[in-house]
Amino acid sequence: MKKLIAFTILLAALSSCSDSDTYQDIEPPVTVTPPGNETPGTDPPAAISYSKNVKSIIDANCIGCHQSGRSAGFRPLTTYAEVKAAVENAGLLGRIQLQTGQQGIMPQAGRMAQANIDIIVKWNTDGLKEN
Ligand code: HEC
Repeated sequence: MKKLIAFTILLAALSSCSDSDTYQDIEPPVTVTPPGNETPGTDPPAAISYSKNVKSIIDANCIGCHQSGRSAGFRPLTTYAEVKAAVENAGLLGRIQLQTGQQGIMPQAGRMAQANIDIIVKWNTDGLKEN
């Protein structure tokens, strides 16, 4: 009786190895990377926009002076159109990239954190988008 049970188990084990269980069947599918998206699962970085990325930096560092009634009220930086115009016509990018202590540096008290500068520079590279 013991032998019969052992034989039955052996038979069951063998028959479960059917032809369809090849190595390919159990291998995970190959991930194909679509062209232009070399890192699978990672979306390309979004373009910098005024409303999402730039406004908060300008509000925190510039509008204390750059709004009407303040020391730099002649060049307000409180709206998208004003900040865009300052990049295009008033050398904003150059001013923020000067070194602390250099003539014309903005903010006047000293250069911002590099991360903030990088965002504003990239905003220009990305086409000065509003949203
Ligand atoms: C403490 C006040 C103050 C702060 C803060 C400040 N500015 Fe200014 N800014 C001025 C003054 C005053 C002038 C005019 C004198 C000059 O051109 O340097 C000026 C001039 C400028 C100009 C040239 C404007 C023109 O029409 O010629 C730009 C561009 C500018 N600032 C950008 C910025 C930016 C961007 C920030 C924030 C990152 C900033 N400023 C922060 C006071 C300030």
